[in-house]
Amino acid sequence: MRLDKFIADTGTASRKECTRAARAGLVLVDGVPVRDASVHIDENSAAVTYCGKPVLWSRFTYVMLNKPAGTVSTTDNIPRSVMRLLPPECSKKGMFPCGRLDMDTVGLLLLTDDGPLAHLLLSPKHHVEKAYTYMCDPPLDKVQIAKLEAGVDMNGYLTKPARITAQSPTRGRITITEGKYHQIKRMFHAVGSEITFLKRETFGPLTLDPQLEEGTWRPLTDAEISSLTDLQNK
Ligand code: URA
Repeated sequence: MRLDKFIADTGTASRKECTRAARAGLVLVDGVPVRDASVHIDENSAAVTYCGKPVLWSRFTYVMLNKPAGTVSTTDNIPRSVMRLLPPECSKKGMFPCGRLDMDTVGLLLLTDDGPLAHLLLSPKHHVEKAYTYMCDPPLDKVQIAKLEAGVDMNGYLTKPARITAQSPTRGRITITEGKYHQIKRMFHAVGSEITFLKRETFGPLTLDPQLEEGTWRPLTDAEISSLTDLQNK
């Protein structure tokens, strides 16, 4: 496999960045700087480092994005697609957002090309927890919070129990195990309040990296990837 493709496929950098880094002597294969990123390597045996960090080969790519408001969780080739925030290689290799956040929702979005894992994370059977910080208006009282936690009627569908930690009557953190369309907004609406801000902080075992500015991304660490693949082995 070409060295630049190998590095780009792991989500470490785009091919262009790779070419530049290689020219600058920042890409090592088996400890030796390789200045031409188009050379072929054996992805199963080569020890590659990029800017001092080991690049580990994995069949799939996993990326954490801090989704900004105004972007759409889609692979459609539209200007507002979250895919436009990643290097073009990510779309070319078939990566997609694992689930959807509304256009105005910000925070943790996992993007991958690992279809079986995405299926597991999104399947209602697996009750994967997702925690969001929220702001709402009008303020919530204790009765409304208790209703949200117990489950509310959303057009004939009774939501599963949720956990809420309220910091004040208008802000807090809610943890749910479902992912129905506009779920949290509809839950709040059902008890007489409206969401005015929503940010996903966790998705299963993943926590949004506080260093990631809105609109930026990074590949998952090995520990994060293991935490996801562990789910598959349960
Ligand atoms: N619930 C919502 O209402 N919107 C989201 O984006 C995510 C969960």
